[in-house]
Amino acid sequence: MGHGKLKKFAENETFRCLLQPDASAILNKEPGSRELRLKDHAIKGRWGADMFGNDHPIVLELGCGKGDYTIALAQRNPDINYIGVDIKGARLWKGAKFATEHALPNVAFLRTRIEFIDAFFGPQEVSEIWLTFSDPQLRGSENSRLSSPLFLERYRHFLKADGIVHLKTDSRYLYEYTKAVVEVNALHVVVAEEDIYAHRDRVPAEVTQVQTFYEKMFLEMGLPITYMAFGLAHEGPYAFPGEAFDHERWLEAEGPRRSFSHQPTKKM
Ligand SMILES: C[S@@+](CC[C@H](N)C(=O)[O-])C[C@H]1O[C@@H](n2cnc3c(N)ncnc32)[C@H](O)[C@@H]1O
Repeated sequence: MGHGKLKKFAENETFRCLLQPDASAILNKEPGSRELRLKDHAIKGRWGADMFGNDHPIVLELGCGKGDYTIALAQRNPDINYIGVDIKGARLWKGAKFATEHALPNVAFLRTRIEFIDAFFGPQEVSEIWLTFSDPQLRGSENSRLSSPLFLERYRHFLKADGIVHLKTDSRYLYEYTKAVVEVNALHVVVAEEDIYAHRDRVPAEVTQVQTFYEKMFLEMGLPITYMAFGLAHEGPYAFPGEAFDHERWLEAEGPRRSFSHQPTKKM
């Protein structure tokens, strides 16, 4: 590991706004078994009291990278608390350092795998979720997509009944996949737009006014940016889209991005 990364990891330990739990804080080993079970973290249901010292609404950015959306939205909306979540410590360092240096009281970051997210948030604790330029997981398991029924089930445990999920992505594949999940479960769609910069009037202002690190890169490549906002209210388990989603068609439409696979070309 490079010296720069080690320095960032050491500095991460000093940021009050950054929670980096050990695996032991969320994973239990069953006696006599090799199986690990997810357990609740101490902050679950207590973000308002323990991290922010208020009961303002909480909004998550999942896969926040350097936390561009988290920071920008927090600066615009001081009465809302924002939490950026990512597994990469060196990226989170940038957002946590900025929030610390600018004494932003409504910003926090959580370093964890999103697969473990419901260990950290209690019922009705979160008002909105942003999925910003999530890796589309074109060929991997459907369950690894952050808008798959498996992840929606996790989010449902802590999103308010009238809460909203925002998906902003350059990946037409991920947009169409999410649309298929939303349709097959008859979820409420607030907005679904295939090219936000061609139709700025159809999306909330902050969708075009805030651009993340990855978004800037994709815009330079001339890619249209899509956006969808939807609710999660649904009786019973979420269904998978199955053949209602034309995997081959949208994989084809991904074009050169299939090999790009969200690996950055610039130094991170
Ligand atoms: C393509 S980047 C986008 C970063 C940022 N949202 C942006 O637009 O600049 C995807 C981010 O999601 C994070 N990520 C992907 N899958 C994850 C998972 N299962 N758990 C935690 N973080 C994840 C990666 O570490 C990476 O920082």
